[in-house]
Amino acid sequence: MNSIYKTLAFLFILFFQFSYSQHNIIPAPVKYEMNEGSFVIDKSVSIETQNIDTKDLNGIKLFQKYLLDLGIESDFVKRKAGSIISINMNNKYDSTLGDEGYKLEVNENRIVLNANKEAGVFNGLQTLKQLFPVNNNKTEKIEIQSCKVLDYPRFKWRGLMLDVSRHFFTVDEVKSFIDKMSEYKFNVFHWHLTDDQGWRIEIKSLPKLTEIGGWRVERYGRYGSERPYPKKGEKATYGGFYTQEQIKGIVQYASDRNITIVPEIDMPGHSMAALAAYPELSVNQKPTFVVPGSKFVDWQGGGKFEMLIENTLNPIDENVYDFIDKVFTEVAQLFPGEYIHMGGDEAYHGYWERDTNVQKFMKENSIKDGEELQSYFVKRVEKIINSKGKKMIGWDEILDGGLAEGAAVMSWRGMKGGIKAAKMEHEVVMTPTTYAYLDYTQGDKSVENRIYASLSLEKSYEFEPIPKDVNPKYILGGQGNLWTEGIATMPFAFYMTYPRAFALAETLWSTKENKKWNDFMRRTEYHFNRFDATKTNISKAVFDPIITVYLENDELMCKLENSVPNTEIYYAIDNSYPVQFGQKYIEPFKIPEGNLDLHTQTFRDGKAIGRELHIPRKDLVKRVKKK
Ligand code: ACM
Repeated sequence: MNSIYKTLAFLFILFFQFSYSQHNIIPAPVKYEMNEGSFVIDKSVSIETQNIDTKDLNGIKLFQKYLLDLGIESDFVKRKAGSIISINMNNKYDSTLGDEGYKLEVNENRIVLNANKEAGVFNGLQTLKQLFPVNNNKTEKIEIQSCKVLDYPRFKWRGLMLDVSRHFFTVDEVKSFIDKMSEYKFNVFHWHLTDDQGWRIEIKSLPKLTEIGGWRVERYGRYGSERPYPKKGEKATYGGFYTQEQIKGIVQYASDRNITIVPEIDMPGHSMAALAAYPELSVNQKPTFVVPGSKFVDWQGGGKFEMLIENTLNPIDENVYDFIDKVFTEVAQLFPGEYIHMGGDEAYHGYWERDTNVQKFMKENSIKDGEELQSYFVKRVEKIINSKGKKMIGWDEILDGGLAEGAAVMSWRGMKGGIKAAKMEHEVVMTPTTYAYLDYTQGDKSVENRIYASLSLEKSYEFEPIPKDVNPKYILGGQGNLWTEGIATMPFAFYMTYPRAFALAETLWSTKENKKWNDFMRRTEYHFNRFDATKTNISKAVFDPIITVYLENDELMCKLENSVPNTEIYYAIDNSYPVQFGQKYIEPFKIPEGNLDLHTQTFRDGKAIGRELHIPRKDLVKRVKKK
């Protein structure tokens, strides 16, 4: 072959590989190869297992249940010829796959799944489910494109956090959150169980924590100054908690889905619910209440704040450490995972610093300020947690004033805390607000819940957990955090979590090379259909135009964009309607004077795919950005 033919042949192969290697899997697997033909799952299918202990069959049983819900009963046999799904635990550990990886091969008469461990089998079955066509109705056959997948995770900590304090979610709702996580190969559920707005875990030796701390007056709507305080005599009727029996059930439920739960008991700050139950554990020992989300913090900018109501435990009181010991004794018995999270964030030191006993204690112990005092507290808490056979993890404030010896750090105020901790050879989980805060608004503020910060899907997808000049071995992974101050229901929790959790799942599981925005967005659209088919709420804000308003030569200009391939944006700025009969957006345009509104929406092939945004000119003016 002369060289021109060689080149053509090479280009042909490249094109062939590219066009035939598309898949819809999130997170993207390490390697995927599409093959000719397909496998049909129907009533004749059977599942064969090899080398799998009966105690390790949970993932497979869940898969069978999934098939059954689709109308397909699968036979379970040890060995059988014909149309089979063969699931095998490797005899010899395949170090490429690790504990969570798998190999999956689909061809015309067999599906073969191999893994080293049950976790790998579980993950492989999640991929297999994603290879099914979108359908949630009963069916007689499911056709799956032949393919070969090799897959294993980039990070060992792939987490999502759910705050159940600000709003309470039932056992079934928590399970539904865990279920969805597991489909996207997350393996850590960080359960934020306590905060100022409610204590949600039964501690048998401290019953008032849930009798009193689990309940607040009922309030919804915007958080902070717009939410009224409890009225005199008003009953605390909103809330709830998880009994220890329920928690054991959830721990098992998560474990069956390859998810470890990291419980968080937030201290010394964020403790108003605990102090409502046991006010003697604070410096002033004055009775407080479980705050319903009304304003009690004065934010002063630059991360500075003042707590208007005391919500910190007293770090110089031995009774506080007895209390913490009791709490962690029971927490450690309930949660089999390696880590316990002790919070440590946003603890206000003002009540400590103003108290004469605390001042005396600090002087006697050469503790120079509130940060060092908090460090003293955190180090004592670490000893307690270690004494229960667990490792301690805390928010990055635990670095301030000196980090406890073996503590792992969850970096949320950007990546700098994580970098500092990793340089000190501590384990780190990266969860910076800039990429991983799922309570932030994800679309245009004219159509979203009002929140003080925003985080788009595109930005989430840019997250890279390993900073430059840091030894990657200290970065356990990363996590998305869903704070629920403004999230009262599970459907809305799903809306806020997805699709940004797809982006995080891909960052935490897939190789860096396999992360490509346009392809991710194409797959995300496929997963929108999967969510729609099961009537699960998901945000499609990514389709909406991103509006930038700026001044140029004293003229008010508007730029519209989105980052979804194959779309067009239409707009009308003269109050004409509907918007697709307005103008196709090509370049920034002038917003004329007058009492007028901007209407804009995204289309594909003439069909609207995003929401119509409708913004009065006076609101556009407020958005002006200097160019
Ligand atoms: C946090 O967001 N306060 C950890």
